[in-house]
Amino acid sequence: MASNAENMKRKGNSISIDDGRKKLRIIEQQRKYLPIATVEKELVEKVQNNQTLIIVGETGSGKTTQLPQYLFNAGFCRDGNVIGITQPRHVAAVTVAKRVAEECGVQLGQSVGYSIRFDDMTSSSTRIKYMTDGLLLREALLDPFLSKYSVIIVDEAHERTIHTDVLLGLLKKVQKVRSQSPIEYQKVGTVKTNDGPLSGKENGAQSASFLKLCQGVNFLPLKLIIMSASLDPRMFSEYFDGASYVYVRGRQFPVNIYYTQHAESDYVDAAMITIFQIYLEEGPGDILVFLTGQEEIEAVEGLIQEQIRQLPAGNQKLVAVPIYSSLPSNQQMKVFIPVPDGFRKVILATNIAETSVTIPGIKYVIDPGLVKARTYNQQTGIESLVVVPTSKAQAVQRSGRAGREGPGKCFRIYPENEFAKLADSTVPEIKRCNLSNVVLQLKALGVDDIVGFDFMENPSRISINKSLEELLLLGALTDDYKLSDPIGHQMARLPLDPMYGKALIVASQFNCLEEMLITVAMLSVESIFYRPREKLEESRMAMKHFSSPEGDHITLINVYRSSDEFLEKIRISSSKNKILKNLRKWCEENFINSRSLRHARDIHSQIRRHVEQMGLCIASCGDDMLSFRRCLAASFFLNAALRQPEGTYRALANGQVVQIHPFSVLFQAKPVCIIFNELVRTNNNYIRNVTRIDPLWLPELAPQYYATQG
Ligand code: CDP
Ligand code: MG
Repeated sequence: MASNAENMKRKGNSISIDDGRKKLRIIEQQRKYLPIATVEKELVEKVQNNQTLIIVGETGSGKTTQLPQYLFNAGFCRDGNVIGITQPRHVAAVTVAKRVAEECGVQLGQSVGYSIRFDDMTSSSTRIKYMTDGLLLREALLDPFLSKYSVIIVDEAHERTIHTDVLLGLLKKVQKVRSQSPIEYQKVGTVKTNDGPLSGKENGAQSASFLKLCQGVNFLPLKLIIMSASLDPRMFSEYFDGASYVYVRGRQFPVNIYYTQHAESDYVDAAMITIFQIYLEEGPGDILVFLTGQEEIEAVEGLIQEQIRQLPAGNQKLVAVPIYSSLPSNQQMKVFIPVPDGFRKVILATNIAETSVTIPGIKYVIDPGLVKARTYNQQTGIESLVVVPTSKAQAVQRSGRAGREGPGKCFRIYPENEFAKLADSTVPEIKRCNLSNVVLQLKALGVDDIVGFDFMENPSRISINKSLEELLLLGALTDDYKLSDPIGHQMARLPLDPMYGKALIVASQFNCLEEMLITVAMLSVESIFYRPREKLEESRMAMKHFSSPEGDHITLINVYRSSDEFLEKIRISSSKNKILKNLRKWCEENFINSRSLRHARDIHSQIRRHVEQMGLCIASCGDDMLSFRRCLAASFFLNAALRQPEGTYRALANGQVVQIHPFSVLFQAKPVCIIFNELVRTNNNYIRNVTRIDPLWLPELAPQYYATQG
């Protein structure tokens, strides 16, 4: 291990001598103590002797951070090969890569790096590369054989995200091709077989490009490792033709579970009370609270700070630290930084902290038993975000977080009899979400027969057909369901939901791509406006400053442009740090969520680069917002709704009754016809990000849909 650190240190930039050495020594001690360290040799041998290996191990045992280093040391990166590790979540990819770079004593982005959508921290010298599963899928578009990888580790496979499932199918194919000898392999490429993207069977053009690809191909067999905290390895083993599996034993101390007497009507309130009970009455140890999303986390963060201020001056030693996927990466690391002696942390997390990110120091877990999940209505084809109960497996994982370093306590904010009613495990995402994105990606990879693709668990025919239909309507597919040229190819290249990708292409024709780039970037983050419970009225007034009577999309553009103007003013005379500080202050004054805004600005510059590369015409429609609204109608025609006599709306695509969310600028105005971008189901079907359109635009701009609908 030391050799690895030394080795990599030489390759990458080293860190400041004394401090660095001390830190490395501490880290080395921690690494030796990890449960996985005792089985390093066996694991490496297993990987050497098996093409595919399934590793199941307790969360925190060291799988994600250690195994890639073991394999690096064992020579799997010889000849410049790369070990790729996929994660379902951005946060995990980033935080783990940072940790491993630190363990190896190298600068992040050198031999250890990460790559996620809109953020690439790798270089030509990167050998251990953490990334999201979605990103590896996109890489396959450019390099169908994933030739630079000698090993691919699919981590957190139990989460069964849609990308993980598709990736598994793809990797199975890639592995098969790469395990053949070069001569046989080229034969497969030039001749027949009808096995999808890797066979080059389609037509002359594809065979030629396939052959070209073959020339640079790495004929090294691909090692595949499927890794997870709590999966049933048999199912994975069966899928991978009887692959071996191993267990890595963890270290788990007993955790006492407490339930509430009765169902709680307000779990946020109950969580708040529990946090302060623990803080005031229980022994030392950090607290981890599972919440459902950014908005809720920020609300609780605000409430905690307020409550702390009311405690006696000497007793204000609780620090709230948030962690959720869209948190900017420099802030994600805060959960790992120890607090000063005598203080304790309360970490407010989404289900990210269930298995993908292990935070040291946790002794208490508060679990309201809820999670925000994507769900999909097969009949309507509409996907929405809904807060649903966790599964039993998730509840067990959550409580386990309290017992990593010593005995712990878990407070479940629901009565004991509710636990028995929970589903055993979570339904794979592929069975409960819109497949358009995945179908588009598979088509771009040359998989034309989506139904025949070797999924671990097949998505339903109905949802595949719905997605094909949607892609056809968006113009991504031709009438015979092939990827269309150029629109389908362009859409597949954009790292966005097909509808957003299409919106950018349409906008270039409407001469308002500038506006649409801002819109898509702003829609890609969770919540731009900050609305603390206790200052709702003030935040509403602040929002008025930006709001447009036409709707939320233009309102978002106004926010973005105001931030542009502000930055323009201060940029001339300020340092980078000062700019950030000023921007944060500006955001605070305007009740804008500065984290989200910065994230959106980041995303904006990334997608702008993409559309520049694609050669789309980037123009602004200036003050002509009518054109822009027409463009919104042409892009999001599948999400149009008409007002009903009683003030609710009926979605035109499927007749579903929806309501404008109270936070929308159109909540009061209730125009006759609107388009929307997001459906959130709570007690009502709320639509968010809404803009007023003229109903007559629909048959004019989307005749492929509305001309036949009548
Ligand atoms: O993947 P698995 O859940 O088995 O464990 P891991 O993520 O490799 O974490 C191993 C250890 O590294 C844990 O003790 C974590 O607390 C620690 N770690 C850390 O201190 N900082 C990070 N950014 C990531 C992990
Ligand atoms: Mg892990």
